[in-house]
Amino acid sequence: MQLQEILFNQGFGTRRVCAGLIQKGLVSIKPREALADMAFSVVSESDLELAPEGLQFKVSGVPGLPDLVWPYAERAYIVFHKPTGHECSHKASHWPTIYSLLPSPLRLRPQKSAIQGVQAIGRLDQDTTGLLILTDDGALIHKLSSPKHHAPKVYEVTTKHSIDAKQITRLLEGVVLDDSPKPVLAAACEPVGELGVTTHLRLTLTEGKYHQVKRMIAAVGNRVEGLHRSQMGAFKLPDDLPAGAWRWLKPLELAQLSAQ
Ligand code: URA
Repeated sequence: MQLQEILFNQGFGTRRVCAGLIQKGLVSIKPREALADMAFSVVSESDLELAPEGLQFKVSGVPGLPDLVWPYAERAYIVFHKPTGHECSHKASHWPTIYSLLPSPLRLRPQKSAIQGVQAIGRLDQDTTGLLILTDDGALIHKLSSPKHHAPKVYEVTTKHSIDAKQITRLLEGVVLDDSPKPVLAAACEPVGELGVTTHLRLTLTEGKYHQVKRMIAAVGNRVEGLHRSQMGAFKLPDDLPAGAWRWLKPLELAQLSAQ
């Protein structure tokens, strides 16, 4: 594949823009067969033919674009630690969007099927923090957001009032929410700390209704003061990923996501 086509596929702009970046000497590459400690080499021929698999490249000196090593990726799979004060929608209404925290190539990857750029699999509220997965793999978005997909999601909930045994029982047995004909229940629910004292609850849900955690906690007479998603499927938010940061998912992590 030509280098300009590779950059275009990875979201660096139109083919003409990508050719320009290369011809200006802003692009350096490291092919798959290069040794780990080998330096990146600048390439200025936009039509250079390269095997994209395993290719790494850098695009330097473009205003607003962070100086990163980009692995060629047919599909992008990203783990993101959502900070508070950001909406998950593409067009922000009251708060900045999470997409403004990602480098432009991730947002501008050309459309494949119905998806342009990476999109969050499921949404978190503006004031919720924690684990979000973003991808441009429409099949994975469809699979993980389908109501038939019951992979657990774990939330760390800070409540206004202390959590007692009665609240735990009600959350496990099911509470009635106005948009659900059947009671909605937690798959697991454990206080973190002493019952009757602690305001920290670990709640596991296998579905994702609108404001579900907040509404379930309200239904048992308490109130959510802080909400953080720590896990999806068997995949936990990495401890070393601070709020607002993202990184590429590793293949094993991708498998953990679908695990029940
Ligand atoms: N439940 C909520 O109430 N809010 C979230 O952001 C996620 C789950």
